[in-house]
Amino acid sequence: MTDPSAPQPDPHDSPVLVVDYGAQYAQLIARRVREAGVFSEVVPHTSSVADLLAREPGAIILSGGPSSVYAEGAPPLDPEILAAGVPVFGMCYGFQAMVQALGGTVSRTGLGEYGATKASVSDRESTLFNGQPDAQSVWMSHGDSVTEAPDGMRVTASTPGAPVAAFEDDDRRLYGVQWHPEVMHSTFGQRVLENFLRRGARLEATWNPESIVAEQVERIRAAVGDARVVCGLSGGVDSSVAAALVQKAVGDQLTCVFIDHGLLREGEAEQVEQDFVAATGVDLVVVDAAEQFLSALAGVTDPEQKRNIIGREFIRCFEQAARDIVGSADADGHPVEFLVQGTLYPDVVESGGGTGAANIKSHHNVGGLPDDLQFTLIEPLRDLFKDEVRQVGLELGVPEGIVWRQPFPGPGLGIRIIGEVTASRLETLRRADAIARAELTEAGLDRDIWQCPVVLLADVRSVGVQGDGRSYGHPVVLRPVSSEDAMTADWSRVPYDVLGQISTRITNEVAEVNRVVLDVTSKPPGTIEWE
Ligand code: XMP
Repeated sequence: MTDPSAPQPDPHDSPVLVVDYGAQYAQLIARRVREAGVFSEVVPHTSSVADLLAREPGAIILSGGPSSVYAEGAPPLDPEILAAGVPVFGMCYGFQAMVQALGGTVSRTGLGEYGATKASVSDRESTLFNGQPDAQSVWMSHGDSVTEAPDGMRVTASTPGAPVAAFEDDDRRLYGVQWHPEVMHSTFGQRVLENFLRRGARLEATWNPESIVAEQVERIRAAVGDARVVCGLSGGVDSSVAAALVQKAVGDQLTCVFIDHGLLREGEAEQVEQDFVAATGVDLVVVDAAEQFLSALAGVTDPEQKRNIIGREFIRCFEQAARDIVGSADADGHPVEFLVQGTLYPDVVESGGGTGAANIKSHHNVGGLPDDLQFTLIEPLRDLFKDEVRQVGLELGVPEGIVWRQPFPGPGLGIRIIGEVTASRLETLRRADAIARAELTEAGLDRDIWQCPVVLLADVRSVGVQGDGRSYGHPVVLRPVSSEDAMTADWSRVPYDVLGQISTRITNEVAEVNRVVLDVTSKPPGTIEWE
């Protein structure tokens, strides 16, 4: 146990800045650095040397990128950054940009390498390769090759197409590899990265769930003071973990609002209303709005219209609840000034947002709330990737069922019923969905599958036989997909036995359903949800 009264190192100190040269790898590199226990952020390649140094970075990583260093408009590297005394690690494009800046030779040899390649390490005692085998599989993606290392650089690895595939200079603390150590196909990639961080940059591992919680709790307390805070809970992992963090920081000053729109899956409302409250002690206001949503959805079959109605009703409910809370100053008359949002780091990077360090900002008219309800936003997850949010959730005691919950759309089962949404159809879908989830969990597939929507084709009926008689029931569609980020997806190859068991159970146990079908479409062209 660490002594909680002892001053803790700030895990944001000496960040590793990952300069983004335009490939999709920069965020992955930042995640890998954090997995090694060091805080890191993605910064654009347009950042000036002064901007970079102002952050007092513990190290700088130059990411890969799509360009050749010879391409017109290829993002340049200011050589000054390599002379600033900050350890630098170049990867792929970043490696070649270092070579150019330091006076080595990048040649168009015509010997590009793409995909898994064997690298030969010539110095197993070196900073990057210490403790690793001399032959390793690395992931390459380059056309040009470095044929001559800059002066002072020691060449420590080569590949068939790249005579200079890695170099190191411990005096200037400059390092580089031609490949992508951040992707898992580079078998020792994480070890290479850790060696750079620990041995090259001499950075300690201070970034972990406990230090993240401790730091955020302090920041939130300092920002909130005696004011009160409101948070909308959806039952998903982001809002739950954000609420749990704020609750740990300011306790009863936080009030959470959970709108039960009646479109959740079996057990999910209870997870929020009972398990989450029991685990975190949050003060929760539950708005049971199932009837209101159902009557607003009556007769509606068009998916866009359903979404609009659900969105509108949701805002109405939340607004009313927020007004009630805002109107009810606490015994000492403290107003509600803050609203918690579960914004994550990838959203910040993708929206071109500033550094993750500022987690509190002023904001007006948040999420459709009316202008006269003005809050300052608290975004305690603004620095975090999804996997870190889960770790922080576990650290805070958020129930595992919530921490590991698969993505679920805000409009809920409302868009997984094709046709009009009614109470009995919701009940049918809820039971079928619960069976599918239970069987996938039982088969140990939860972490392999990104999500598995179950869709009720409520307007379709087909003939079947059940028992001794004909049935005329509805089909449900299973839509298990694997994905990294939901932008693209493939249909998951769930074992036939598991599919068979799900089908048998649903058709036996849910009287209205007489067929179970499997969606084998990737995204694109399909989407994940049916609607
Ligand atoms: P699609 O169907 O577009 O879904 O392939 C991509 C991902 O987004 C989720 N999704 C939503 N999430 N509100 C949400 O919070 C929504 O309205 C919504 N619609 C789709 C979907 O479950 C998948 O993970």
